[in-house]
Amino acid sequence: MPDVTFAHVPGMKAASQVAERHADGLSQDEFLSEYVANSRPVVIREAVKHWPARTKWRDKDYLKRQSGHHRVFAYPHEYLDAKADNEAGTRELSFAEAIDFLHAPETAVGFVGTAMPIELLPDVGDFRFFSGPVDPAFFYHDIRYFLFRNAGTTWHYHPMDETLMCQLIGRKRVGFVHTLSPRPHAIRNMFVRGTYYTDPTAFDGFDNSGHAWFEATLDEGDALYIPPLWWHGVVPLTHDFGVTAPVTWRSPLPVIADTIRKLAAWGGGLEGVMPPCGARALTDVARSLGLAAELQSAAKQGKLRVQQEAPPNLRSLWRDRAPAGNRAAHA
Ligand SMILES: [Fe+2]
Repeated sequence: MPDVTFAHVPGMKAASQVAERHADGLSQDEFLSEYVANSRPVVIREAVKHWPARTKWRDKDYLKRQSGHHRVFAYPHEYLDAKADNEAGTRELSFAEAIDFLHAPETAVGFVGTAMPIELLPDVGDFRFFSGPVDPAFFYHDIRYFLFRNAGTTWHYHPMDETLMCQLIGRKRVGFVHTLSPRPHAIRNMFVRGTYYTDPTAFDGFDNSGHAWFEATLDEGDALYIPPLWWHGVVPLTHDFGVTAPVTWRSPLPVIADTIRKLAAWGGGLEGVMPPCGARALTDVARSLGLAAELQSAAKQGKLRVQQEAPPNLRSLWRDRAPAGNRAAHA
């Protein structure tokens, strides 16, 4: 069940709070220089409170009318990121059927997660503290949705790219520890094998000294900034239908350079699934930074898969965004 993502990880019992800001008091300069440039997580309260999705997506018939025709994969468990059995029990359904599945009281745990369908994009708002301009993420679609019922995500890290995890419906708790903490390979083995998920004694004998564990609680309307190279796990605090929307973009060049160097040195490697356009862009950027060899090394150490190109209309969120200064009147 979802709570074991933290229950069997002793570091989460005495985790410190992630830094918090309110969206109204955070400027773009500050967000980029304090948090993004330093790869420092932060909770931004009420960052997405004004998004129409927060109210419209509570109506399941609205979601079905807008996007019910799409084919999606529904999972009868939470997102088991590092476990091979994530595919167990998966069914291909229409989006409308998946919405019913996630609203049904008899569904104990489940999720559906993919790139945001074009019909739902008008319900997505902006960030008053951040508008870009940015380049698209190497790994991820600009915006995805994670529709869930009593489901979180097991421990994993993003090897590249910046993420704002936007909590639209339901509440969640997120745990953090940096990948370059002491004994990084011991932590990696634990999280990648996923033994802690079923075995309460998996961390027995693990030397936790020198590790800084953090936690954040997200209420509806909050966003959590998740930088690259942080292990994070997510537990739902509400047990019925919920929606999280991760928004992603490419890191600034100094952060990319730092990340490639750390990945190559640490041995953590590039993990995950990447579209071909992302793989090409990353190769070009690494070459321009003089880090082509380090990128190669990081790629060899991980299990990177290059997959099908995303349709262009799924990678359009950041296009046509006005600069933050032009939208101050709406704040
Ligand atoms: Fe994540």
